[in-house]
Amino acid sequence: MKIRESGMPEQDYWDSFFETGSILDKLGVTSACGDLVEFGCGYGTFTVPAAQRISGTVRALDLEAEMLQATNALASVSGVDNIELLLRDFVADGSGLPDQSADYAMLFNILHVEEPVALLREAYRNLSAGGHLGIIHWNHDEQTPRGPPLSMRPRPEQCRAWAEEAGFEMAGEILDLPPYHYGLLLVRVG
Ligand SMILES: C[S@@+](CC[C@H](N)C(=O)[O-])C[C@H]1O[C@@H](n2cnc3c(N)ncnc32)[C@H](O)[C@@H]1O
Repeated sequence: MKIRESGMPEQDYWDSFFETGSILDKLGVTSACGDLVEFGCGYGTFTVPAAQRISGTVRALDLEAEMLQATNALASVSGVDNIELLLRDFVADGSGLPDQSADYAMLFNILHVEEPVALLREAYRNLSAGGHLGIIHWNHDEQTPRGPPLSMRPRPEQCRAWAEEAGFEMAGEILDLPPYHYGLLLVRVG
């Protein structure tokens, strides 16, 4: 089931909303990361830069073949070959990945999903002990140029509460990711 309000505008417009390198720096996506899973890769805006940083493989999930094709095209022109593209409805069917098979999980711009704690529990299941979860979402501000309606747009404190309900612990302060986003870095401790 496609997440509500998760359609994408034109790729160049979408990409203009993010300082991608700074966001990945602040969220600890570095060469110290092994394998990474991304729930909803979209155009590959973060997938490809993450793959360029980590030592392992990015498993990029999306239920839109068109999004996986765009990510694949971006990977090709960037000379990146450590991305595994997986056509998957992770809301209906989960990630399909084994327990504790990733060191990092990215939930970027998708936590307005109908059942956020269920999705966070799936990310938790996928992560090894000590593995990290990065969340970003649109600021709760009607001036942002895109993003889900404010009525369904979670605030950072809400994301934190949901993630803690799923078993995560905060691994730093809530982050400002200008111009339009905030972020959280969490950890699976046990
Ligand atoms: C708002 S976009 C965010 C893309 C990317 N995370 C980013 O921040 O650039 C959400 C993506 O999730 C995908 N998506 C929505 N529901 C999904 C589901 N149930 N299973 C897999 N992918 C889904 C959409 O196709 C879309 O590519």
